[in-house]
Amino acid sequence: MELLQAIESRRSIRKFKSEPIPENYINELLEAGRIAPSGSNLQPTRYVVIKSEEARAKLKECTPLPFVSQAPAVIAVCTDAGVVATTEIRSRELMEANAFADTPLNNTKNEDADAYNKRRKSMDEATLRAYLNLNAAIAIDHITLRAVDLGLGSCWVMMFDKEKVKSLLNLDERYDVVALIPVGYPDQAPKQRPRLSMEDVLLKEI
Ligand SMILES: Cc1cc2nc3c(=O)[nH]c(=O)nc-3n(C[C@H](O)[C@H](O)[C@H](O)COP(=O)(O)O)c2cc1C
Repeated sequence: MELLQAIESRRSIRKFKSEPIPENYINELLEAGRIAPSGSNLQPTRYVVIKSEEARAKLKECTPLPFVSQAPAVIAVCTDAGVVATTEIRSRELMEANAFADTPLNNTKNEDADAYNKRRKSMDEATLRAYLNLNAAIAIDHITLRAVDLGLGSCWVMMFDKEKVKSLLNLDERYDVVALIPVGYPDQAPKQRPRLSMEDVLLKEI
């Protein structure tokens, strides 16, 4: 499928067929998330796949939206705040991969890059949270578009009780659950949802 076609035909799907989705499709979705870009290539996004009847029954108690646990699979998209400690490793990898060729960053002693990394390491909790969420968002977008490509539907869901989901997933403190993405074969074919016009969203060209 062409990328534009996937972008244009993606919808938030809130009704799924009960039919399970092939195991390799879940892997394909996670792969689309895994290769998404991330700030300084820190790759903070992590996933938990919720598929068993038992786990989905428990998930039902975590959200007021029944369609989430009715989907045959739900991807819990999480972030790992611990990745900040890997900043130097990731920077070195990027340098070795020649990512910064012909830029001022292609230098282990770049003061601007050092200052930027230092700022990130000393971010307050809320700023770090926002930064990690940005990284999760791009991975989620990759996943939802790849889902369209595979004939699947999905929905980005943030309406859930975070503490309950964290307890269900039994994850270490460093992980935060950003979104739940129910996925399955769509049992609805909604029209494109309303959007602001280009005039509304394009502030100016300068
Ligand atoms: C950050 C974000 C959070 C969202 N949270 C929810 C949610 O909790 N429940 C839900 O049903 N849809 C949720 N959505 C889906 C939006 O409602 C949906 O994208 C929007 O209405 C436009 O519809 P469309 O995705 O079909 O184009 C969320 C979408 C985004 C991007």
